[in-house]
Amino acid sequence: MCGYLKIICVFLLMLSLLGDNYGTKGEPQVPCYFIFGDSLVDNGNNNVIRSLARADYLPYGIDFPDGPTGRFSNGKTTVDVIAELLGFDDYIPPYATARGREILRGVNFASAAAGIREETGQQLTLYNYGARKFVLIGVGQIGCSPNALAQNSPDGRTCAQNINVANQLFNNKLRELVDNLNRNTPNAKLIYINAYGIFQDLIDNPFAFAELIGFNSSIPPHATASGSEILRGVNYGSGVAGIRDETGYRWGDRISMDMQLLNHQVTILRINSILSNFTATTSLLNKCLYTVDMGNNDYLNNYLDSKFYPSSRTFTPDMFATILVQQFEGQLRRLHSYGARKVAVSNIGLLGCLPEETRTYGRNASGCVDFINNYVQLFNQKLKVSIDNLNTNLPNARFIISNQTSISTGGPPIVFDSPCCIISNTTAKGQCSNNGQTPCSNRNQYVFFDNFHPTEAANRATATRSYTALLPTDSYPTDIRGLVQT
Ligand SMILES: *[C@@H]1O[C@H](CO)[C@@H](O)[C@H](O)[C@H]1NC(C)=O
Ligand SMILES: *[C@@H]1O[C@H](CO)[C@@H](O)[C@H](O)[C@H]1NC(C)=O
Ligand SMILES: *[C@@H]1O[C@H](CO)[C@@H](O)[C@H](O)[C@H]1NC(C)=O
Ligand SMILES: *[C@@H]1O[C@H](CO)[C@@H](O)[C@H](O)[C@H]1NC(C)=O
Ligand SMILES: *[C@@H]1O[C@H](CO)[C@@H](O)[C@H](O)[C@H]1NC(C)=O
Repeated sequence: MCGYLKIICVFLLMLSLLGDNYGTKGEPQVPCYFIFGDSLVDNGNNNVIRSLARADYLPYGIDFPDGPTGRFSNGKTTVDVIAELLGFDDYIPPYATARGREILRGVNFASAAAGIREETGQQLTLYNYGARKFVLIGVGQIGCSPNALAQNSPDGRTCAQNINVANQLFNNKLRELVDNLNRNTPNAKLIYINAYGIFQDLIDNPFAFAELIGFNSSIPPHATASGSEILRGVNYGSGVAGIRDETGYRWGDRISMDMQLLNHQVTILRINSILSNFTATTSLLNKCLYTVDMGNNDYLNNYLDSKFYPSSRTFTPDMFATILVQQFEGQLRRLHSYGARKVAVSNIGLLGCLPEETRTYGRNASGCVDFINNYVQLFNQKLKVSIDNLNTNLPNARFIISNQTSISTGGPPIVFDSPCCIISNTTAKGQCSNNGQTPCSNRNQYVFFDNFHPTEAANRATATRSYTALLPTDSYPTDIRGLVQT
């Protein structure tokens, strides 16, 4: 039963073990925690997309209770540890598996996509969704309509035919699908949505839609978490993802920051359909913690990879940092418009000190590749200005920076110049080789597990200092503890 997607089984198992006891350990400091980011926080989202940037094989997860999960580390990531420090008694589920029945109603996303179109011109608020409530509910029922169930469901109850719908999307039959639904569905609202031009979005970009609803013919219909799980938060992180959509394309699919925000809109719709009360939904979203770690790949898998990406020929380092921070600021504004109030943003760490970069470029006297760290510093300086802007201009906004530059200094005396695992020459560059290797045994003494990603020990140190600053420069203007406790 657990053959294909181990993570899902692990997750379902966790749910069943938690059973009725869930929540009896005392409430966490925030009711919910939403995670946006790249491979530093991905906990399985890339397992279900076509990407070379995946970590669903040993030695990744070697110190995780159930082995590989998709986390790019030997064990926990920073956000796992932050969730612990916040008082959550298990991990925030990956978006890819945190799907209740609602998410099977893939067409719900269509409304979210409409929101995105509008968003370019005006702020989309949760209340805008309210105006479409009938539409959403109507569309939601299509996927599980008696007609559809009779035709496609394996047991007459499960909305399994949505998988088939997704397949059709993959097969670029979106237009036929829409026509077919319009012909055969008594619910005329769908046609109405189409008239809104939403389906035009999907037809223009069927691939994005398919990726968003996350279906893939191999995913069994039972691969869904209990609906209310999402009330505690979701992890959207995706390896190789960036602020810019094209970032990381060389390695296959990835869920960019824009896509993660779309996924979050879907989650909000689902939360609202669970709570059935816009005031309650907004109030919940206002209380959650949000962490965002983005930008690393816009350098590593974009600006610094001139063979595949033109950005370094188009922009000076300073211009690139400027456009990147501008785009990121827009994304953070959008997150705020979706109800986020407590947001901890990680700036970019010292990428010039990654084993992959020192191996490629050689070391300067600092022990790292100075020019890369200088690029990153441009980004970080502009990000600080941007965060000040957001806090000044957005109502009730509390954005903080978890300062990776500061946090990475003065750690325990451990190996920071070489990775723990044997690096692959065949899978995505800089990752552990998938050859049944035994990685280093003293993993607590290494900063890097592979050529890019920290060990659990390093992640724990980073999370702990992000939560409670050790130095005044570790976070700005306050730390995560200050953010959630006041
Ligand atoms: C679904 O995912 C699996 C594993 O990633 C892959 O082997 C398969 O080809 C995918 N199917 C489709 C239709 O994309
Ligand atoms: C909706 O939620 C708000 C805030 O939690 C609550 O005060 C209100 O009574 C709820 N409305 C309904 C109709 O349940
Ligand atoms: C860093 O190293 C590179 C390559 O060895 C060299 O070209 C550059 O001048 C060095 N920079 C500094 C500041 O030492
Ligand atoms: C981050 O830390 C570095 C190094 O300690 C410091 O120079 C910089 O000003 C800090 N940035 C912020 C936003 O606090
Ligand atoms: C990758 O190539 C290097 C240099 O050719 C070699 O030393 C290393 O053993 C190779 N790694 C693997 C996992 O085969």
